[in-house]
Amino acid sequence: MRLIKSIPQMIKYAKAVQKKGKVIGLVPTMGFLHAGHLSLIDIAKRSCDIVVVSIFVNPTQFGPKEDFKKYPRNLARDLKLLRRMGVDIVFCPSAQEMYPKGFQTKITVPKLAKKLCGISRPHHFAGVVTVVLKLFNIVLPDIAVFGEKDYQQQLIIKQMAVDLNLDVKILTGKIVRERNGLAMSSRNKYLSNLNQERAARLYAALSFGKKLAEQGEKSPEHLRRSILAHLKGKQINIEYCEVLNADTLESLPRLKGKVLIALAARIDGVRLIDNIVVSLGRT
Ligand code: PAF
Repeated sequence: MRLIKSIPQMIKYAKAVQKKGKVIGLVPTMGFLHAGHLSLIDIAKRSCDIVVVSIFVNPTQFGPKEDFKKYPRNLARDLKLLRRMGVDIVFCPSAQEMYPKGFQTKITVPKLAKKLCGISRPHHFAGVVTVVLKLFNIVLPDIAVFGEKDYQQQLIIKQMAVDLNLDVKILTGKIVRERNGLAMSSRNKYLSNLNQERAARLYAALSFGKKLAEQGEKSPEHLRRSILAHLKGKQINIEYCEVLNADTLESLPRLKGKVLIALAARIDGVRLIDNIVVSLGRT
């Protein structure tokens, strides 16, 4: 496994590999890896010759009052895990390398980015999309893998890839959960054991919502309210609970087709997101 920190070196390596006709897979991460990330690496390994994992805590996707400074980092531990996974390259640039003085370009996918998390994090997705496009231009992947826990993020990246004619196939990996149902996230580190148990109720509420929809509930608003009622009194501060078309994030007059149930909440100040997709009939 090779650690590359410089952009020109990464491009040089990627071009050389490309010339040999090898398929490059990229798994972009912000480090502090967990089983969710490792499952994305598994997907990349299955369909690529060379797997690149990027580790970069991207400052531009954090708001001024968000947790950029205290975001958990542990490069030594990450490198150990990645070596064990048989990753070929870890691309780990500095912020200075990615955003030299004078940097000013921003890519936006405005319609999708203004829903769900975009309401409380208005600049977040522009930061994500811009850094992901930079990573694509540096690593030259044929395939890139993203997690479905960040459901809105993967939709936005797929839209960017279509809109900008990017020659990168976007694959996604299912949410990996703790035994109690809590979706794996680097930010779970901020939660005490008690709050991790509390946080697991988000998934219980999503599963409850899925069951109601599968049992024939037709009203998105009723479903939303039932999920919120399920979470009442559980010391969870709900930021949003939305039931939307899973492909477009548009609201639904009736529950049918592919439906996304998405939640964002704070527990003891820690912001968590989770979702579940329900496939219903067409009527
Ligand atoms: O999902 C993440 O960890 C980040 O948003 C990503 C895609 C690595 C971009 O910084």
